[in-house]
Amino acid sequence: MSNNKEVIISLKNVTKTFGSVTVIDNISLDIYRGETFVIMGCSGSGKSTLMRIMTGALKPDAGEVIIKDKNIATAKDSELNKIKRAAGMLFQYSALLDSLSVKDNVALPIREHTKLAENIISIIVKMKLSLVGLRGFQDYFPSEISGGMRKRVGLARAIVLDPDIVFYDEPTSGLDPVVGGVIDKLIKDLSKKLLITSVVVTHDMQSVFNIADRSAMIHKGKVVEINSNQGLKETKNPYVKQFIEGNPKGPMNVFSDVDIQDVIE
Ligand SMILES: Nc1ncnc2c1ncn2[C@@H]1O[C@H](COP(=O)(O)OP(=O)(O)OP(=O)(O)O)[C@@H](O)[C@H]1O
Ligand SMILES: [Mg+2]
Repeated sequence: MSNNKEVIISLKNVTKTFGSVTVIDNISLDIYRGETFVIMGCSGSGKSTLMRIMTGALKPDAGEVIIKDKNIATAKDSELNKIKRAAGMLFQYSALLDSLSVKDNVALPIREHTKLAENIISIIVKMKLSLVGLRGFQDYFPSEISGGMRKRVGLARAIVLDPDIVFYDEPTSGLDPVVGGVIDKLIKDLSKKLLITSVVVTHDMQSVFNIADRSAMIHKGKVVEINSNQGLKETKNPYVKQFIEGNPKGPMNVFSDVDIQDVIE
């Protein structure tokens, strides 16, 4: 993490409501340049929504989302496009297009945002694929490679335009712990090598402890704690403790309509 702690992403009183449900409830937080910042929490707590607000894919109902000194909550489309181009995104479930080869999937953002010639695109794609250990797989289709490899293709696509911020939504979900560990190491290595600020949504605690400089735990759209790995391990916050321990009993009652005793017996 950088020592001078330059704020690169700043959320101020961000709120988002769908229908009558407030999914993001008055969240304020700062993310520093170069750090790996994790957003963790239970399924449905609002993690992906918060990330989509940070990427500009979703406009908040209220509050400010400041990325590199620009408020993207109110930015014009042209300005927003520029900010989006400077950020990479690894989507939940990889989101590769099945009809396109690995090479064409990785090339998508280049084709969308630049007018580079095919031979240049080829070189860039090859470089990015070798960075994620997939040299030689460019002509495969997503259905012909494993889940871990698909995540790596998604990673190569996320970094293809040399972003200084990369957003990862559940980079290790659906992977075994070993392949998940490989993805974690890649995220760490790429952030260091390419000086990337990483924002990672996950509910995989092993991954949190592998990669996080700081983590924010959210519950019902609110930040309940922001802490380092050491801080998380020592926390007295009952929400965070329940989450880390994976305890069905605690302040977060996931089965609000049912007696939890019925469910776990
Ligand atoms: N576009 C939308 N329209 C209506 N409701 C939405 C929309 N997007 C998200 N929600 C609701 O907001 C809540 C939070 O969703 P979100 O996808 O942010 O959760 P999450 O923490 O990423 O969960 P998971 O771990 O399962 O991915 C859910 O109740 C979801 O149904
Ligand atoms: Mg999600």
